[in-house]
Amino acid sequence: MSKIINGKEIGQQIREDVAKRVEAVKAKGVTPGLAVILVGDNPASKTYVANKQKSCAAIGVHSELIKLPSTTTEQQLVEEIAKLNDAPHIHGILVQLPLPKHIDEDTIIAAIAPAKDVDGFSPVSVGKMMLGQDTFLPCTPYGVMKLLEYSGVEIAGKHAVVVGRSHIVGKPMGQLLLQKDATVTYTHSKTPDLPAMTKQADIIIAAVGRPNFITKEHVKEGAVVIDVGINRNEENKLCGDVDFASVEPIVSKITPVPGGVGPMTITMLLENTVKSAENTLK
Ligand code: GUN
Repeated sequence: MSKIINGKEIGQQIREDVAKRVEAVKAKGVTPGLAVILVGDNPASKTYVANKQKSCAAIGVHSELIKLPSTTTEQQLVEEIAKLNDAPHIHGILVQLPLPKHIDEDTIIAAIAPAKDVDGFSPVSVGKMMLGQDTFLPCTPYGVMKLLEYSGVEIAGKHAVVVGRSHIVGKPMGQLLLQKDATVTYTHSKTPDLPAMTKQADIIIAAVGRPNFITKEHVKEGAVVIDVGINRNEENKLCGDVDFASVEPIVSKITPVPGGVGPMTITMLLENTVKSAENTLK
């Protein structure tokens, strides 16, 4: 098997399976539907949202974009979500983050019905994940688990070191690895002597959001390195959190940026949306 983990290829494979599930629920009279809410005009968010819509269309998932001005109040946004919570043709609701500063993200995320929380960010979803109960898993860490699975990386008994502790990636990532019987260490910006920790890792998950932060000084020979970062370097070129050129020669497996974790996030969003539609038929 190749040393480079190809997220584009694995994502495509999974999308083909998801497309079959879309057909199956459609045959039973249900078209999976995703509503994406975009508040304001953050350029990166616009690109992400457009990609999500394109990916939905490619596998026959209905998608709706609700564009709201940056002056939208928290109350108005909550009301918009309430309408979607009650809309039978919508199975997934995603509020694109970040939100304008005057809107409290926690309040908004908690307003999404857990049955439609395809991002897996709501307190109910997070609680269920922690307890190992069936729920929607947050798309990026879920995608990383799929990359590891499809690449034949053994997790049970391995030492995984997660660098970063965000609600969206770092924290859930450690939980999912723990559930597959890894020994998990969380590290972050206040961890002293980070290389001493990461050097012990069989699996490193880099989710810090700093370009080329993880170098060969951080990595044990033969480790598996998963790069969740999407950054721009000084030349405005897309790069990850891992200094790929220095790290790649010593690892057993590594994800590139772009083409590693990135394509998996939308793939798992599609999977969660179809799962939600399937749940309505149960
Ligand atoms: N902004 C950046 N990543 C994400 C994501 O996965 N979900 C949502 N809702 N917003 C994001």
